[in-house]
Amino acid sequence: MSAKFQSRAAVTAIGSYVPQGLITNADLERMVDTNDEWIVRRTGIRKRHRAGENEFTSDLATAAVRDLTERYGVSVSDADGIIVATTTPDMPFPSVASQVQKAFGMDRAMAVDLNAACAGFVTGLQMANGLILTGAYRKILVIGAETLTKITDYTDRTTCVLFGDGAGALLVEAADTGSFLSTFAATEGSGGHHVYLTGLSNLWEGQALPGQGKLVQNGREVYKWAVSSIPDAIRELTENAGLRLEELDWLVPHSANMRIVEAICERLQFPAERALESVVENGNTSAASIPLALDAAVRAGKLKPGHLVALFGFGSGLTQSGAVIRWTAGNGREA
Ligand SMILES: CC(C)(COP(=O)(O)OP(=O)(O)OC[C@H]1O[C@@H](n2cnc3c(N)ncnc32)[C@H](O)[C@@H]1OP(=O)(O)O)[C@@H](O)C(=O)NCCC(=O)NCCS
Repeated sequence: MSAKFQSRAAVTAIGSYVPQGLITNADLERMVDTNDEWIVRRTGIRKRHRAGENEFTSDLATAAVRDLTERYGVSVSDADGIIVATTTPDMPFPSVASQVQKAFGMDRAMAVDLNAACAGFVTGLQMANGLILTGAYRKILVIGAETLTKITDYTDRTTCVLFGDGAGALLVEAADTGSFLSTFAATEGSGGHHVYLTGLSNLWEGQALPGQGKLVQNGREVYKWAVSSIPDAIRELTENAGLRLEELDWLVPHSANMRIVEAICERLQFPAERALESVVENGNTSAASIPLALDAAVRAGKLKPGHLVALFGFGSGLTQSGAVIRWTAGNGREA
């Protein structure tokens, strides 16, 4: 029998930021052999945001935290942890998290970047819940931030239509009753070569990889893996929270592609209008996609305190990370 799931960490505030620059479908038509109709039909994406040449992931992460502090009227200078989920840090080190620390002056904070690709943000939330449960931490910022346009190959029409830049941040604080009701994690390292960015190694099991510093993806394989494995994982995650799927107010799968979001809902027989997404207006923003979807719903007055939400990230690795939470942040206008 598994031990009873515990949580002493509540979500108390949210913020987000997307850069000013845009890449529209019409822009992409001028770069590669594609068209708006194909992109919308196969992905749902209408535009993506693009960071400026001198704008990096730490700038987006910092702006998302500033949005959180301003909307909720809270200070984060006493936060004792900063976890940044990203696959596109400004540089391998120092971490993006340490640059967020510099901007807000939490001088007694653990600052760490984590890479679980598009599953990174929910992985960060799971870690924050665990760290707070130890009693050693009380106030942790969990941020998903990406500048994927800097690693996108704008000569490859199968990937360049998908990715965009953005950041979202949640504040997670010690509380008698935590927000987390269950978590899920799974990894399938043998599928790692389906979506990758070369780094210190440009070999996969002895074979040279074609990409150099650019994201390479076998979209069809990733699509099949996502649609065949994720619905069951979401079922298990929800059951472990002691809930039936229909009791969830919102489902927030990683916004990889609107067709994947719809296919997951269809297989779960979950109403698609209760899925929160960020892909139509932002493209696939990897670790930022789930907090961007949550914040759009908060700003629209859809996601409210008390709502039950299943978050489910999945991506390169291949990684999966889920959590059922009870939403406990207000609408952000209390400031
Ligand atoms: C990438 C993706 C949108 C492609 O959609 P798809 O319906 O699977 O399309 P396919 O790859 O089967 O390609 C179908 C055709 O469209 C073409 N095509 C691919 N990209 C195109 C584009 N941007 N514009 C026009 N045609 C395109 C292909 O060349 C192919 O042509 P062919 O039949 O003549 O060979 C889709 O596979 C996907 O979203 N995969 C998952 C990606 C993902 O989630 N990644 C993130 C992991 S976190």
